Amino acid sequence: MAQSYRILLLMKRFTDANRTMWDARVPAHKKSEFYDVESFKGGAPALKPLELKELGDVKGKSLLHLQCHFGQDSLDWARRGAKVTGIDFSPRAIDTAKSLAQEMNLPATFVESDIDSLPDNLGGSFDIVFTSYGVVMWLPDIRRWGEVVAHFLKPGGTFYIVEFHPTSWIFDEESEILKVKYPYFNDGEPLALPSTGSYADPDGSTGTFTEYSWCHSLADVLNALINAGLKLEYVHEFPYTSYPQFPNLMNLQDDGTYRLKEGDGSVPLMYSIRAVKPV
Ligand SMILES: C[S@@+](CC[C@H](N)C(=O)[O-])C[C@H]1O[C@@H](n2cnc3c(N)ncnc32)[C@H](O)[C@@H]1O
Repeated sequence: MAQSYRILLLMKRFTDANRTMWDARVPAHKKSEFYDVESFKGGAPALKPLELKELGDVKGKSLLHLQCHFGQDSLDWARRGAKVTGIDFSPRAIDTAKSLAQEMNLPATFVESDIDSLPDNLGGSFDIVFTSYGVVMWLPDIRRWGEVVAHFLKPGGTFYIVEFHPTSWIFDEESEILKVKYPYFNDGEPLALPSTGSYADPDGSTGTFTEYSWCHSLADVLNALINAGLKLEYVHEFPYTSYPQFPNLMNLQDDGTYRLKEGDGSVPLMYSIRAVKPV
């Protein structure tokens, strides 16, 4: 008992540190080229063709967006007719999402909560639970995540995730050649790495933090969903990704995706999963 309490406290320390880092990133992300909020306000999509195709028509459906950041993707779903609730553990992200919704006159609800305690902070159930691009690596307890997803789905409801492939996290991000640096499997201990700036803040204006992440294997993600009672519809793996994860090694394609220069097609860089909660 004392041991598991100590582990809980330790995990809280890691997620608190991550929250501080994500809070600091929000203002820089909101004005970044990466997110290009001005074009989004002008009608450009924030969501990518892949999730639009794989999730399909959301008009009139209730949609819970987990780890919604400052809400741009959530508001894109709202603009396509979904009744959206976005959640994130960063208070700054949620404040920014609320003000963007107001500014764009789009109906959406945003709730500040971490994933683990979401059932204590939000009621109701949803036709769709959606989450995407850089999410599960921040969660210490992937089994709990599966339970939370299942908790918020209506019977017959759809879960959809598109995410960076855990295989892609094992490589040295600064190397000129593909070189394994990090373990694929995790034993519960986070990887603690110094982080300056971010994918959307290449100049590092947000400062330097220690980030804590967990490389959840594809099997762990799938088993979390299966153990929570969901039925898998499909799992897709892709040899391309949506941002230059290894700056020295990737080429931008005409369709806005990035592929490896060396060994193109030989390594999975993203996956998507679609699952349903049985009636
Ligand atoms: C890479 S961003 C998601 C990006 C999103 N697809 C987008 O581009 O807007 C990851 C988000 O997860 C949130 N996050 C990290 N750990 C979390 C947790 N334990 N509970 C809830 N949100 C969390 C962060 O605040 C951040 O907004």
